Amino acid sequence: MKKDGQDISIFLRACRREPTEYTPVWLMRQAGRFLADYRALRRQYPFLTLCKTPELAAQVTLLPIEKLGVDAAIIFADILLPLEPMGIDLEFTKGEGPVIHNPPRSRAEVEQLRDIEAEKDLPFVVAAIKQVCRELKGRIPLIGFSGAPFTLACYLIEGKSTRDFVRTKSLMYQDPACWHLLMEKLGAAIISYLNAQVRAGAAVVQLFDSWAGVLSPGDYEEFVLPHSQRIFHELSSKVPTIHFATGTAGIIDKMRTAGGDIIGIDWRMDLGEAWQRLGYEVGIQGNLDPSALLGPPERIESRVADILHKAEGRPGHIFNLGHGVLPQTPEENVIAMVEAVHRLSKDR
Ligand code: CP3
Repeated sequence: MKKDGQDISIFLRACRREPTEYTPVWLMRQAGRFLADYRALRRQYPFLTLCKTPELAAQVTLLPIEKLGVDAAIIFADILLPLEPMGIDLEFTKGEGPVIHNPPRSRAEVEQLRDIEAEKDLPFVVAAIKQVCRELKGRIPLIGFSGAPFTLACYLIEGKSTRDFVRTKSLMYQDPACWHLLMEKLGAAIISYLNAQVRAGAAVVQLFDSWAGVLSPGDYEEFVLPHSQRIFHELSSKVPTIHFATGTAGIIDKMRTAGGDIIGIDWRMDLGEAWQRLGYEVGIQGNLDPSALLGPPERIESRVADILHKAEGRPGHIFNLGHGVLPQTPEENVIAMVEAVHRLSKDR
């Protein structure tokens, strides 16, 4: 990323809230099923095989880079991977998504969860990151990531995707001590995992707390905030951090208290209002509705223009979707979106 002693990465400069000549953009799930090349690989290999084979994970990570023209890569992995070495039996089924066959729901089961050491327990992620960094040769930075303790706890306790989070919230309310123990164990694993990713070459890390928006502000503060905050405090590196969640209108200020140099928001909030609430000492990431990419290019461009207008050209805006790109999205629409972000933000 160094050229003539100068950092030429637009994305990293935006993470530090330095002015850039255009707004950098990447997409959550940019290396996924909307890409025909990814679907072709998936016909050959199960999802977990892709994640656990460094050459394949590196190949998938790089699939969207040239094609889409994005300003950052994100390592191909999954937030649920660190659960396996903790003792969890994880499977990705066709149709149903992730399934956990032994969800811990009692104090004894939570106590049995093992501590992990990421370099030893998740060596394939570390190897994939090193390989991607070698192949990128500094052209654009690589983002590492982890699930946040709350979102990981939801998957762990429910054992699968859910709408109402009944088992998770029951444990939280009925046995707060057990809840906090679980969150501490997840927190320790996440810190080890993110530190290992940074040591391997990740230039930025994103913490996905995708489901935090299902909590009341009071519950977020009591049951989640201290655990997410600990992660931002205890990361040993000084790389920029992105803190992402969805449905966060009620808790965005508390997310900011928990930490992150950049706060990621979804499309249910107005980006201008959200940034004003957060204060301009923090960056913002977002926030196009992923469904907008199913519409015609003119509408995509007008939605991109709206979001850039809300950001007012302030340093520290990273353009992204409000959540992952949908598998049904035409590739050419994503290419048009990235091009529109670059062109329209240059014109400002
Ligand atoms: O963003 C990227 O391109 C990097 C890779 C990445 C994946 N998952 C690959 C993946 C990232 C950053 C994730 C994060 C993730 N995983 C989250 C947080 C973000 C979010 O979407 O809220 C969550 C909740 C998961 C757990 C998970 N993994 C679910 C619920 C599913 C099934 C549903 C779905 O969208 O497919 C997965 C599978 C998964 N993770 C796929 C990919 C490309 C699809 C697997 C396939 O090929 O069938």
